Amino acid sequence: MKDFKNVMIFDHPLIRHKVAILRDKNTGMKDFRQLIEEITTLMAYESLKDVPTKEVEVETPLEVCTQTKIVEKSIALVPILRAGLGMVNGIHTLLPTAKVGHIGMYRNEETAEPVPYYCKLPEGIQNMKVILLDPMLATGGSACDAIKKLKDLGCKDITLMSIIGAPEGVEKVATTHPDVKLFLSTLDRQLNENFYILPGLGDAGDRLYGTK
Ligand code: PRP
Ligand code: URA
Repeated sequence: MKDFKNVMIFDHPLIRHKVAILRDKNTGMKDFRQLIEEITTLMAYESLKDVPTKEVEVETPLEVCTQTKIVEKSIALVPILRAGLGMVNGIHTLLPTAKVGHIGMYRNEETAEPVPYYCKLPEGIQNMKVILLDPMLATGGSACDAIKKLKDLGCKDITLMSIIGAPEGVEKVATTHPDVKLFLSTLDRQLNENFYILPGLGDAGDRLYGTK
């Protein structure tokens, strides 16, 4: 895959270690959920480097000094249902007051085209930094639709965080939306004939919620 300026792929042993356990078909629902959260928290350190900040006065036991704090209410987390929900706590652990919007979408099993079914977003989202969350970026159809919806509403600062991506999906997001920053913990090899990621981890929603 060619290099894209707006795509950052993590290369960290802690993340690689956790992704290896996540992929394992013998990893159960509880551990799977916990790993998705932990990987998201690790990714957040880099992905949230450009969050809005403000200067504040802090009184230490010795003197008053000027410090930097995050403007937490200026951040909206937007998970794509269902699997994106599993990533929310991974960021809420660090930024408990970040607002959360939800975009519901599932893939048509034959065409892999996304079918939208729900959308509820925080008021004023167009002025916030939006972090779109979905652990799986396969064809890129769901992510591109969600990004388009956010842009149609006026959002200008959008970051997509995904745990595993296929080259097809990464290229689609990176070329259709070069202004969107994409953070990926791992780039996988390819999609199979059913548009599943190889080697991947199977169906993230089913593994998070035990539906299969
Ligand atoms: C999965 C995943 C993404 C989408 C990725 O959701 O969570 O939203 O597929 O595929 P794409 O890049 O080809 O669009 P799915 O449709 O399985 O719904 P679910 O989360 O409710 O299981
Ligand atoms: N959605 C998933 O959950 N897994 C894939 O491999 C592709 C789409």
